[in-house]
Amino acid sequence: MLIPVLVGCYNRFVTKPCELRGFLHGSEIFPFTLEVNPASFAAAIRQQPMSKSIESHLTEDREFLPAKEFSSKARISSLAQYKKLYKESIDKPDVFWAREAKELQWDKPWNKVLEWKAPFAKWFVDGKLNVATNCVDRHAEGPRKNKAAIIFEGEPGDKRVITYGQLQREVCQFANVLEKNGVKAKDRVLIYMPMIPEAAVAMLACARIGAVHSVVFGGFSADSIVDRLEDSGATTIITADGGWRRGKVVPLKENVDAALEKYTAVRKCIVFKRCGNDVNMAASRDTWWHDEVAAVSHRHKAKSFDAEHPLFILYTSGSTGKPKGILHTSGGYLTGTYSTFKYIFDIREEDIYWCTADVGWITGHSYIVYGPLANGATQMMYEGAPNQPDFGRFWKIIEENAVSIFYTAPTAIRAFIKAGDHFPANHDLSSLRLLGSVGEPINPEAWMWYHNKIGGKRCPIVDTWWQTETGSIMISPLPGCTPTKPGTATLPFFGVDAAILDEAGNECKANEGGKLVIRKPWPAMTRSIYGDKARYSKTYWSDYKGIYTAGDGARRDKQGNFWIVGRIDDVLNVSGHRLGTAEVESSLVSHPAVAESAVVGRPDELKGQGVVCFVTLKETHQPSEALRKELREHVGKSIGAIAKPDDIYFAPALPKTRSGKIMRRLLKELVTTGDISGNVTTLDDVNVISNLKASMNS
Ligand code: WTA
Repeated sequence: MLIPVLVGCYNRFVTKPCELRGFLHGSEIFPFTLEVNPASFAAAIRQQPMSKSIESHLTEDREFLPAKEFSSKARISSLAQYKKLYKESIDKPDVFWAREAKELQWDKPWNKVLEWKAPFAKWFVDGKLNVATNCVDRHAEGPRKNKAAIIFEGEPGDKRVITYGQLQREVCQFANVLEKNGVKAKDRVLIYMPMIPEAAVAMLACARIGAVHSVVFGGFSADSIVDRLEDSGATTIITADGGWRRGKVVPLKENVDAALEKYTAVRKCIVFKRCGNDVNMAASRDTWWHDEVAAVSHRHKAKSFDAEHPLFILYTSGSTGKPKGILHTSGGYLTGTYSTFKYIFDIREEDIYWCTADVGWITGHSYIVYGPLANGATQMMYEGAPNQPDFGRFWKIIEENAVSIFYTAPTAIRAFIKAGDHFPANHDLSSLRLLGSVGEPINPEAWMWYHNKIGGKRCPIVDTWWQTETGSIMISPLPGCTPTKPGTATLPFFGVDAAILDEAGNECKANEGGKLVIRKPWPAMTRSIYGDKARYSKTYWSDYKGIYTAGDGARRDKQGNFWIVGRIDDVLNVSGHRLGTAEVESSLVSHPAVAESAVVGRPDELKGQGVVCFVTLKETHQPSEALRKELREHVGKSIGAIAKPDDIYFAPALPKTRSGKIMRRLLKELVTTGDISGNVTTLDDVNVISNLKASMNS
């Protein structure tokens, strides 16, 4: 693609005759001089063919190698070792995955590792296991009996340590409660709980008896509960009176009551007493958790289930339409989460691991409940908000509990950057040895901050790319061997045949952007959208035959590292150039004044789309016209004139989903129509919208 280089005008509007000085191709200018007529120039620009691939203009040269000290103790300690195992996992996936699966406890061995009739996979065919006994009993009945499984801290400051032995008693007890209440294998159970150990107990109790859990994030409303009840057909709910969030009680039971006025098929609602707030208890339907467990034994004989027995349904918010119930099954999912957790977090017996996600998200399922517990790890669990009472809370928890592995999301990192460096600086974070990131592309400057201020420049960062649908991490550094660069999730995990394809299905060249796909099945992949195989096939498997499309745009650099450039739906089209949102946003975040940004396209007669940026400043900076100008120049310098923002708005906060992802769809609507009429039910804070509108007028 050639970019005209003009003198005498800014290339958005050519309103007066000016000189065309040459063409920019890549980073080179091919010079010549020509008088340009504005009308024909505009027409020429309009007729430019649309670039088929997503372009990339931001380069990152900083590279970080794992420290010798870390590598020498790691499971995978050299790139050569990674490459050898990776090759085996791709050439002979049966051999690789059978070896991983054998580290778990199977009640009956499988006959075949994989049966693949695209897009439907069966892993460990005819094998039988119990997912919960693998996560709990296996450890409780061995030397880990008195090892802490969960170190819990409530938002008000209450603390509890639950050993594997205790966890076994609690899971068994609750399994008995479920069975006593008539819950059978394959029945769906909706769990709507705060981030407390009982959420994990409820999930594991379901798994133990073969019931299918569907966890609904505690921040969702009554309507979301209704949607999920209707779709899953659940007849049992496990909830709590409330949960603590920013010093207030989230009225969970009240939300359930409102949902159950609309959906009447629920027979049983079991309520854990967490906050002691007043709640209504419907006579025959609602019972207290503590009364239920008091009446049953803490011993329970677990049955074995088929490897393909459904384990859970997790609804993805989806930007429009009916939420998708992503279905995961047992043997493959457990093998995938077990294996990725072991290698990517390089877990040690003495580690204290902390993932700050909520159990209501896939990260909570795979890397709070199933992956860590299958590995017999000790983990920290925290109930509340990161800024309660202030932005020092996480760092205080790390210091007090000697957390050694910390796994969080870019949105949290950017919030900490905005709040100021003094919060982490006031705490001793020397117990940390490894950091992780998940959920969105991490902007290189946020990566550097994480590395310097939290990791003390010594901790490797694993930037893990994956999805609710993939079940387990797909692309990530292995901390003892992968050279990392800020902003890339680096290389695929074992068995993951990731690639970038263009529209025609050809593999893109190095640094050419396209669609991120996975070409081979993997154990933890979703088996379907619950009750809708056609939608599953259409959504994920229809772009290229037999290939999974993730919906993300990405490129691979010369070393083979994967750089996620944003969701395909969010890609900008500027004068025939397709630009991922991540690069423009990262360019803005690399300016010292900026904490966070979101970039969207606005229809533009001349360019196709204009670049509109929303920027949240650090606490130390104020909006000004001069800063706006400076930011425009900054993007122009770091990416090129093509990405120079047409408009920059200073926003006190950006619209995000409840799991912290920026909702560009809303911003796009706002800049296009001046208002938002689309679905905002997944929006975390509705006040953000009015503040945004105000910022656009200021
Ligand atoms: C995005 C969360 C860049 C991506 C586990 C993906 C990421 C979507 C990363 C899935 C990462 C997640 N770098 N982008 N490390 N991790 N994403 O289903 O767009 O909540 O498709 O699963 O988050 O989100 P989900």
